[in-house]
Amino acid sequence: MLEVRKDILGFDTKVETLNGKKDYIFFDNAASTPALKSVYEQMEEIMKNYSNVHRGTGYKAFYSTELFDRSREYVMEFLGAGENDTAIFVKNTTEGVNKFARIFKSKFPDAKIIVSEMDHHSNLLPWKKYFNIRWWEVNDRSRLELDRLEEILKEENGKVKLVAVTGASNVTGFTNPVHEIARLAHKYGAYVFIDGAQLIPHRKTSMTTGNPEEKIDFLAFSAHKIYSPFGSGALLGDKNVLSAEEPQCVGGGTIKFVAKDEIVWADLPDREEAGTPNIPGAISLALTLKKLNSHDFNKLEKREEELASYFIKKFSKLNKFTLLGDENRTEKDFSVFSFKFEGELSPFLIASILSFEEGIGVRAGCFCAHPYLARLMNFSKDDLEDVKNKIIKDEMDKFPGAIRASLSFYNTEEEIDRLINALEKIEKGEFSEYYYREDVHAFVPKNFDFKIPDLI
Ligand code: ALA
Repeated sequence: MLEVRKDILGFDTKVETLNGKKDYIFFDNAASTPALKSVYEQMEEIMKNYSNVHRGTGYKAFYSTELFDRSREYVMEFLGAGENDTAIFVKNTTEGVNKFARIFKSKFPDAKIIVSEMDHHSNLLPWKKYFNIRWWEVNDRSRLELDRLEEILKEENGKVKLVAVTGASNVTGFTNPVHEIARLAHKYGAYVFIDGAQLIPHRKTSMTTGNPEEKIDFLAFSAHKIYSPFGSGALLGDKNVLSAEEPQCVGGGTIKFVAKDEIVWADLPDREEAGTPNIPGAISLALTLKKLNSHDFNKLEKREEELASYFIKKFSKLNKFTLLGDENRTEKDFSVFSFKFEGELSPFLIASILSFEEGIGVRAGCFCAHPYLARLMNFSKDDLEDVKNKIIKDEMDKFPGAIRASLSFYNTEEEIDRLINALEKIEKGEFSEYYYREDVHAFVPKNFDFKIPDLI
C-alpha cells in the first residue's frame, strides 16, 4: 500500500498546530479526496496541448477532442454502462441529480418518486423540487430494507416511476444492494437511479450484471470524491430517457442547426453539455479511474476494509464517543464513521480541537443529510423544531451533530491510532477549550491561525 500512498498528492504534508508541526492526517475523504500525483503530473503534460474541443482545427484541437471523447468512453467502460446508455459530463453529483430530475420531469410530469431517508440532500432536494415523493424509511438499525421497498411499491400500485437512492451513505458508510433495488423497482414498473457519489470511490461498481432486470438505469457521481478534484462528474443512463425535448441550459454545443425561427437540438450528450465543457476535469477523471484500476481496485477495497476493522476495534475502547447507526457493520459497508460525544462538547469544537491541536482533518455537523441524522440522533418532532431554531439563529455552539472520520485506502493504522489517542485526550478533558472562539464556520483558536499563504 505504500506505493499507492505515495501516489496521493500531499500525503506527506506537515501543518502547524498549537502543539507544533505535525504530519497532517486527512480523514475527510467522504467530502472530497486528494488528487493522484501521477495523474497530476500527466495533466501537466497534457495541458501543454490544451485547446477547446469539437470545434477547432489544428493539432491541439484534435488532441484535446480525442482525449475528451476517449475520457467519456472510459468512464462508461469503467462503470459498465450498457449499449443504450450515454454519459453526460456535469460538474458534480448534485448537478447530475438536478439535471436528471429536470429531464425526468419533462418525460414523466406526474410520476411519483421514491427517495430514501438515508440520502444526502443532493439526492433529496431535486426530487422534492419537481415531484410528489414517497419516503423509503430506514429501519431501527438505520438501514434500508428491501422488504419495505417492496411494500411501498405494492402500496403505490404502479404510480412510482423511479426509485432514487444512494449506493452508500456518506454518514454511516452503509452500502445498499443496488442491483437488488433495481430488480425490485423494475418488477413494479419503475426505473432506478443510484447516487454513486460515495459508492463508486469505494466499491467497484458496474451498471450491469448481465441480468437486464438488475441493471442500474441511471447513475451520477463526482470526480472530486474519486481522487480527481477538478470539478467534473457524470450522469449516466438510457439515452432515450435522458434526451429531453429541450435542454434547460442552451447555447453553444447544444444544437445541430439554428435559424432565426428554427432550432434543431444536438443528440446526447452534446445537447446537455452547453458551452465549453470542463475538458481537463473530464480527462483527469478518466486518467484517475484508469490509474485506480492499475493499482487494482479490488486490493484498494480490501485495504479499506482492513482499515475499517482496525478503526472499529480501536474505537470500541473509547468511553464517551458512540458510533452512529448500527455497530454491527458488514464487510460491504465502507470506511466512513460518524460518532457523537456523550457530553456537553459541541461536535464542531471537537473537530476544531482535532484540527488545531492534533493536525487531523475531519468533518463535523449533519453532513448534508439532515433527515438521516435526525433518525440516527433519535430526534423527536420537538427536538427538530428546537434544532431548526438554533440553526436559523446561527447558535453554532448549540448545533447538534456528529463528528465524521472518513478513511481511504491510503490512510494508515498509525493515523487511526493518532485519532483515537486524540479522542481519548478529549474524553479526559485534555484540550485547550478556553483558547477557542466561535467563527462563522468553526471554532478557531484565539491567538493562532494556519497562516494560509497570501497567494490570491
Ligand atoms: N456529501 C459530501 C459529504 O458528505 C459533501 O461531505
